[in-house]
Amino acid sequence: MQTKRIPIHSILEDHEQVEEAAGLLRQGGVVAIPTETVYGLAANAYDGAAVAKIFAAKGRPMDNPLIVHISEFDMLPDLVEDIPEAAMELARRYWPGPLTIILKKSDRIPDEVSAGLPTVAVRMPSNTVARGIIGACGFPLAAPSANLSGSPSPTTADHVLHDLDGRVEGIVISDDAAVGLESTVVSLAGLAEGERPRLLRPGAVTPEMLRDALGEIDIDPAVLHQLEEGRKAPSPGMKYKHYAPKARVILVEGDRAAYIEYANRHAKEGACALCFEEDAAGLQIPAVTYGRADAPDSEAHALFDALRRLDEEGYTTAYAHAPDKDGVGLAVYNRLIRAAAFQVVQL
Ligand code: TXA
Ligand code: MG
Repeated sequence: MQTKRIPIHSILEDHEQVEEAAGLLRQGGVVAIPTETVYGLAANAYDGAAVAKIFAAKGRPMDNPLIVHISEFDMLPDLVEDIPEAAMELARRYWPGPLTIILKKSDRIPDEVSAGLPTVAVRMPSNTVARGIIGACGFPLAAPSANLSGSPSPTTADHVLHDLDGRVEGIVISDDAAVGLESTVVSLAGLAEGERPRLLRPGAVTPEMLRDALGEIDIDPAVLHQLEEGRKAPSPGMKYKHYAPKARVILVEGDRAAYIEYANRHAKEGACALCFEEDAAGLQIPAVTYGRADAPDSEAHALFDALRRLDEEGYTTAYAHAPDKDGVGLAVYNRLIRAAAFQVVQL
């Protein structure tokens, strides 16, 4: 298939291109769009046949549901059974932004979107190009991350072209993702049964920010640990291997001196250090950096590009210096421990 490249950097100046992307989506096409978290692979959320094409293009298992993206709050009532006060509070504080809320779905949501679950995940992105395209369509867009299933999520248009050129109708060429990690996913679907809000995937909206809005929340064990054998995944995405470069990643927890000593001691052909900028000076093996230890936002922004670079540069082993788990660091840690297939060395 010939993939149309559609450059959009400003919805005011690039009005015609916004219309072009919306036109492909109206015809039931699949189009990659930028968001502030990662690029998404979008189709009309009300069109089951269009949504099914997303799964084919990514090679994604059909039992993994998609997030529905809206451009204004008025699009929400059609998607869900009802809107609990907790959802209103989250929307007031953190929408538009990197937060996905899971609610009971309405019967307008096709099974392809919800993978047969009684719930739907909804998010209003803050990226103005994303909202401009959704607004021009006039319908919500179902979109997973715009990578091939299993590889790191795309934070640049180049990442999307690398994975999906020739597999989808259009790719919007826009700026690099500002956040760089996928949205926080919180489920409010069990509230009526007396459950607490449950964090299923950490992101730039931190647990502290959720507690500010909601009071106590539960953090699903799968955020930091491997899903137990036999336990049903509360979020189907949890059970799949994720963010994995071809290189074997080993997550190393320890202070700078101990980490550098460990990496140098384990130097071998094909090995590199996946580390913070501050670590690089002491290392005797090649370094691929992912942001600064003293700036978790910079780690989030850089991580997925760094994971892709491991493969581009042909490394077979990467000793990854583990981030602190505070604030956004929890999200960075969550992605890295999956890239490492839960292999952790404690120093
Ligand atoms: O930032 C993001 O969230 C990006 C951008 C494009 O918006 N999207 C994204 O989508 O990361 P995806 O499909 O890669 O991840 C969505 C996650 C998956 O782990 C999926 O299982 C979970 O959300 N999910 C979606 N709907 C769900 C539902 N109804 N119940 C539980 N988990 C759900
Ligand atoms: Mg994904």
